[in-house]
Order: sequence, then C-alpha cells, then structure tokens
Amino acid sequence: MMGAHPRRVGLLTGGGDCPGLNAVIRAVVKASTYHYGIEVYGIRDGFDGLMNDNMDLLTADDVSGILHRGGTILGSSNRANPFRVPVEVDGEKRYEDQSDQVVAVARARRLEAIIVVGGDGSLTIGAQLIECGLPVIGVPKTIDNDLDSTDVTFGFDSARAVATDAVDRLHSTAESHQRIMVVEVMGRYAGWIALEAGMAGGGDVILIPEIPFDLEKVATAIEKRGQSGRRFSIVVVAEGATPRGGQIFVDRRIEDSPEAIRLGGIGRWVAHELEERLQWESRVTVLGHLQRGGSPTSFDRILGTRFGVEAARLAAEKLHGRMVSLRGTEVTSVPLADAVAKPRRVDPSSAIVSAARAVGTCFGD
Ligand code: F6P
Repeated sequence: MMGAHPRRVGLLTGGGDCPGLNAVIRAVVKASTYHYGIEVYGIRDGFDGLMNDNMDLLTADDVSGILHRGGTILGSSNRANPFRVPVEVDGEKRYEDQSDQVVAVARARRLEAIIVVGGDGSLTIGAQLIECGLPVIGVPKTIDNDLDSTDVTFGFDSARAVATDAVDRLHSTAESHQRIMVVEVMGRYAGWIALEAGMAGGGDVILIPEIPFDLEKVATAIEKRGQSGRRFSIVVVAEGATPRGGQIFVDRRIEDSPEAIRLGGIGRWVAHELEERLQWESRVTVLGHLQRGGSPTSFDRILGTRFGVEAARLAAEKLHGRMVSLRGTEVTSVPLADAVAKPRRVDPSSAIVSAARAVGTCFGD
C-alpha cells in the first residue's frame, strides 16, 4: 500500500568529535520530525554502527536538552571505514572492503539516505559510498576548519575560543616569571586555530604549517622584545608547523584510521630550542583535546542548528550527494565530491596574515 511506511533517514557522526555535533543532531531530528514527517535513525559510533546495524529511532524528545552539550550523543569513531575493515586471517591482520554490507544494512532498514556529519575522512568515505549507490548528505564538522567548500566548519569557533583563553591565561604567568611560553594547538595540516587564537590572544610569535619557520628568526624576534623591555613572550605553534627544511613532528600512527598520522611534539622542541639559544627559561603547554571538549560557543550552536536544518531539507527533497556549506552569511550546499577534493589551508599572502604581520606578529619567516 502506498505511503504505508514513513520515510526514514540515517544520521551518523564520524571522525574526531567537536563541539556542536549535538546541535546538528537535534536540528536534523526536530526539522525532519516536525516539518517533513521523516523518521531519523541515529547510527551509533560512526560507520561502525552502519556496518553492524547498530541504530535506533531518535524522537524529538530524545534530542531535547542536548544543544549545549559537547561531544555527540551518537558516539563517533575515527577508525571505522567500511572500505578498509581490519580482519584476522590465519593470525595475520588484513583489510577488507565491506561497503556492500553497509549498503545492505541501509536498504534493509529502508533508509532513503545517510546524513554523515564528519570531517575530511568521514566525508570522503561518504563520497565513496555514493558511488556504491548509497545516497549520502554531508555536514562539515571539524575544529581544524580545513574543508574547502565551506567558509567555516562548526567546531572551529569553540576550539578557537578555548585556545584564545589559554593564550590569555599564559600571558599573566609568563609575565610573572619572565618566561617564554610556547602553546601547541591542534589543526592537523592547517594553521587556522594557531593563526586566529594567536591573533585573538595577542601571541608574539605564530607558527603555522603554511609558513615554514626559521628558528633563528623566531629567536631574534623574542630577543628584540627583550631588548625593548618586554620580559616575556608567547609563541603559539600549530601541531603541523614545520621548521624550514625540517620534518613534521609525528606523535603516533594509528594504522586503522583513515588518517593514520597523529601530529604532536613541535611545541616541546620549539621551547627547548629557544631556551638553548636564548638562555631564557621556557615552558610548553600542549592544549590537545581540551580544544575539542566541552560546550560549544553560541556561534557553533547556531551554525550547527542551521546546518542540521539544511541537511534535513536536502534529505526531504532528495537532494542527495550534497554537503551543506556556509558562504558568507548564507547556508547553501555543494556537491559532496567537490567538497572533499582539496583541503582549505591558510594562504600566507592573505589579508588576515598581513594584518597579523602589521601588528608585529612574527611568523618565523
Ligand atoms: O581533526 C581534529 C583533530 O583534533 C586534529 O586537530 C588532531 O590532529 C586530531 O584530530 C587528533 O586526533 P585523535 O583524537 O585521534 O588524537
């Protein structure tokens, strides 16, 4: 009988979590339920839940009161990849393509589409699933802000706020003890968090992956500050920043993860080298996952809500294969395949970098 079954979509959060995920979940569920009469199935732990048919119907009541909460009520995984599932064969670890299983689960559950809330890794898997015949809609999430087809991803503003607060706090203790304070922030291969938190917090030196740095130049800038009576300095360094001619600092490899490399260690190295060169006491603070935890800023709650509502509309209108995006002040959408084609990195000749230079910030180049 026509119309016997309600329409259904699946919703998952993949990759590293970030503030604002719950705002998206709430918006997708409420908009789908109230406006389109579409049921939303919340898939547990990212693509893991889709492979293992681990999902439940989410009602508007289920998502009530979660807007301000960090993390994701659905759970996430930055390892689960249906195209590369680790299996043991004769005691040996191998990888299998189990994308057929994912498509079969979605069909058995009568999911018209899967809304994938994720960063580069999860959205790339989403784009591959489209080629397998599974309709996918993307929502861009990441504190790194490194997706090209949107002016900003939700999660970035909250991470920038945490990092700015840290830079502010380090100022007073740096001044009391006349130290060089190095703070290492996240961002992978993009320097957005370091650049913008560094600017907002008045960091004296900002080191980003897009501008390889010369430690001599950093030392000279700090020395000059000392000569002009400034007895402390704040260095904000992105985890992906690299000394000119040197290597990126890798903390560990997680082979099962779509992005195996985890960065880290540059902050400690910079602090040590500056202390040696300048004979000036230095300390390092690695902000790490503090930047991903906790309550989203009001900006991220609003952006997450707008993205979720647009994703629900795209699903209702069967505009599959698209990723929601912010352009200027407007929420729009772009083809998902284009969205993951290239990362968005800081342009060293952009106006924002020039503005930082104009107020005396050293980039070590
Ligand atoms: O992509 C978000 C991010 O927090 C990066 O900034 C960071 O490099 C990475 O994830 C850390 O990953 P994990 O949570 O696996 O340590």
